[in-house]
Amino acid sequence: MNQDLHSYWTGKSVLITGASSGLGYAVTEALASYKIKFGLLSRRQERMQELADKLQETGSSFWIKSCDVRNRDEVLSSVKEFHQKAGSLDVAWINSGISLDSSFRKWDWEAFESSIDTNLKGAIYTIRACLEIMVPQGSGAIVGIGSAASMRGLPTRGVYSLTKVGLDYFLQSKAAELPQIQFTVIHPGFVDTPINESNPNRFWLLTPEKAARIMIKAVAKRKRQLIYPLRMNLLFHMIRLLPLPFYYWLANKTMKLSQPSKT
Ligand SMILES: NC(=O)c1ccc[n+]([C@@H]2O[C@H](COP(=O)([O-])OP(=O)(O)OC[C@H]3O[C@@H](n4cnc5c(N)ncnc54)[C@H](OP(=O)(O)O)[C@@H]3O)[C@@H](O)[C@H]2O)c1
Repeated sequence: MNQDLHSYWTGKSVLITGASSGLGYAVTEALASYKIKFGLLSRRQERMQELADKLQETGSSFWIKSCDVRNRDEVLSSVKEFHQKAGSLDVAWINSGISLDSSFRKWDWEAFESSIDTNLKGAIYTIRACLEIMVPQGSGAIVGIGSAASMRGLPTRGVYSLTKVGLDYFLQSKAAELPQIQFTVIHPGFVDTPINESNPNRFWLLTPEKAARIMIKAVAKRKRQLIYPLRMNLLFHMIRLLPLPFYYWLANKTMKLSQPSKT
């Protein structure tokens, strides 16, 4: 047994948004053996119930609620309700998210706004609701799931990139303001989940199980930032260092290469 993981996670109360699928689902599975008091939120209650049923022998407990993170009142009341039920709130895993192609030719206001409402505003509603509990208690951890897509303004992913950069900056600002709270921002590379299954350009793809293990270890080590896998971390930093004209040229060339050829 990994001692760092054991001593950090055992017995904690952990709220996870977006627990019905992909990374949120895998993180719940990865943590279940640590006797966690889980609060699981997402819109698809039946998926979370299936997960809880599957993990019922682990010794963890599960409080589940259908919640649309775009609805501020729903988020505030759900977080409060979980806190009352669990008696504490140790970790909030801010994970709900959607992705979309926001290229000029696929302009869709409704989808753009829904993306900003889910990935950015929904995350901020959840963080605020959790901080209302964590700040008076003098402790707690907020884990924000960003994306390697925030390395730069990526062609065709402008709206998604901006929500993830926005979340990253918001959490940096809160971390500077509230040193008593642990803030860990995680930027995953490509993980094989429904959010990107139709994307033909995924590379260095990880399974959700492997991704979950990497993330729960980083949080237990109280890392402030994690970009994974390692080669995505290197690419992220290299791309950020490129002078703008060279970045635009490279991004445009890569975008053209990745578009399906017209036959
Ligand atoms: N997979 C990757 O390669 C990758 C890479 C970088 C970052 N990420 C980030 O990782 C996070 C999880 O994504 P994933 O890969 O696990 O994708 P996923 O399998 O599609 O899961 C997305 C989760 O977000 C929830 N969600 C979406 N809209 C919601 C809403 N309005 N209210 C509440 N919950 C909502 C979904 O639950 P319901 O539909 O049941 O509400 C689902 O549980 C996202 O923030 C994503 O941007 C993923």
